[in-house]
Amino acid sequence: MRPTLIASAALLLALALAGCGGKQAQQEQSSATAAPPVPAAGAAADYVVPADLDQGPRAAASAVDEEKAELGEKLFNSKGCVACHAFGKRMSGPDLAGVTRSRTERWMESQILHPDKMTQQDPISKELFATYKVQMTNFGLTPDEAKAIVEFLKKKDKESGK
Ligand code: HEC
Repeated sequence: MRPTLIASAALLLALALAGCGGKQAQQEQSSATAAPPVPAAGAAADYVVPADLDQGPRAAASAVDEEKAELGEKLFNSKGCVACHAFGKRMSGPDLAGVTRSRTERWMESQILHPDKMTQQDPISKELFATYKVQMTNFGLTPDEAKAIVEFLKKKDKESGK
């Protein structure tokens, strides 16, 4: 009887350890594989804001794509973002200095592509809306344009954070 008990205890322990390992591997995989892309503004009337946008490394943790950042700067200045946002100063929208140190890339892409959905569904965006009492405009940008703007925001933060 005794050896059987020990054997089954060992088996249980082995199973438990395997279970933990499996779960961890799964988590590692899901953060390593690309999260589903944020869909384009126009194509997503039924876009449901994912609950995990704020998970993972902050945008500033990754290297800047200089080419995209250059395009992003042009978009930022030409698309009307400057009407409400500045760096180092609050306007009708939040001060964007340092924003890439507090947000993930996906969160910002979603905010840029679906500001209206974000203030309704995303907890951080809801809170911002409660503070600023202005709804950020949806400019109907493409996902690539949103990514370019995020690269520009990262570049601004890297330059100012030296
Ligand atoms: C009408 C004013 C307005 C315009 C135009 C605007 N925004 Fe916003 N933005 C806001 C407000 C207000 C918020 C806070 C959320 C809300 O209330 O909608 C915000 C939030 C943000 C945030 C998140 C800030 C944080 O602290 O996390 C980012 C990033 C951002 N905007 C980028 C942009 C970009 C890029 C553009 C141009 C494509 C843009 N915004 C155009 C008003 C504006």
